[in-house]
Amino acid sequence: MSGNEENLQAPGEQGATDSRIPTHIIGLDEILEGGVPKNYIVLLCGHAGTMKSTVGYSIIYNGCKKNGLRSIYLTLEQSKQSILDHVEKLGLPSRGLDDLVIVDLARVRKDITVDKTKPQNVDWLKSIIGVLKNYKQKFGCEALVLDSLAAVYALTTFKNPRGELFQFFEQIRDLGVTTFLISEMPTDRQVYGLYGIEDFLSDGIIHLKVEQTDRGANLYLGVVKMRKTHHTRQFMPLIFENGKFEVISQ
Ligand SMILES: Nc1ncnc2c1ncn2[C@@H]1O[C@H](COP(=O)(O)OP(=O)(O)OP(=O)(O)O)[C@@H](O)[C@H]1O
Ligand SMILES: [Mg+2]
Repeated sequence: MSGNEENLQAPGEQGATDSRIPTHIIGLDEILEGGVPKNYIVLLCGHAGTMKSTVGYSIIYNGCKKNGLRSIYLTLEQSKQSILDHVEKLGLPSRGLDDLVIVDLARVRKDITVDKTKPQNVDWLKSIIGVLKNYKQKFGCEALVLDSLAAVYALTTFKNPRGELFQFFEQIRDLGVTTFLISEMPTDRQVYGLYGIEDFLSDGIIHLKVEQTDRGANLYLGVVKMRKTHHTRQFMPLIFENGKFEVISQ
C-alpha cells in the first residue's frame, strides 16, 4: 500500500484486526462485529445483476487500499479488461494498487498445464486450487474473490458433486485466505448455490436481492449466516454512491 493521504483510514472506518477483515460497507462492519472472520469462506450470492461482482471487488479493493491486504480477484466470468473498465467507471480504480491482482481465465489457462491431447480431461477444480496456491506462495494473499461458482461448475463435470464440492471447499479453506465465493442463485429454488450444499460448506452467506417497487428496483443485503458472529438477519437497503457501498439498518 502506498503511503499517500487517500489511503489513510477515514473516521468510523474499520481497521483489520487479528481476527476479522472489514468489508468497508458502511454500516455492515458494526453488524458483523468488525467484519468477516479471517480465513472464512463466504458465499456472496444473489440473482443476476444484483452487484455481486461489484460488492466482492469493493471488499477486497478497500481491504487492499485501507488495510494493506494482499488480494486476488479470480475471474472466470468477465475478462480482466471488462472488470477494470467497470470498476473504473464506478470510482474504484485498481490502478496503483500493487497488492490487488486480477487473475482472469486466460491467465489461469496459461498458468496450468493442460494436456492438449485430452483437453476435456482438465480437472478445473484442482487447477484453480493449484493456481491459487502458487499465487499465495509467490505473491501472498489474504483475501480472495472467486467469480463465480457458476463458471467453475460450467467447466466441471461432476461424478459426485457432494463429495467433489466438499473437497474443493476444504482445499480453499486449507489455503488460509478469507474467501468470497460469488454464487448466482438458481431462480427456481430457494438455495444459495446450484447444488444446494454450498450454504453448509460455507462459513458465511451474504445475500443480495432486488425488490421491485412502483418507483424502481431496490437492492437489499442480508447476512444469512456468519459463524461466530451475533448478527441481524434483517434485509437492509444497499446503496452505492460515490464509490462506496452502505447498508441502511432500520
Ligand atoms: N449505483 C448503483 N446502484 C445499483 N445498481 C447499480 C449501480 N450502478 C450500477 N448498477 C448495476 O449493477 C450492475 C452490475 O453489477 P455486477 O456486475 O456487480 O452484478 P452481478 O450480480 O455480478 O451481475 P452478473 O449476474 O451479471 O454477474 C450493472 O449492470 C448496473 O445495472
Ligand atoms: Mg458478476
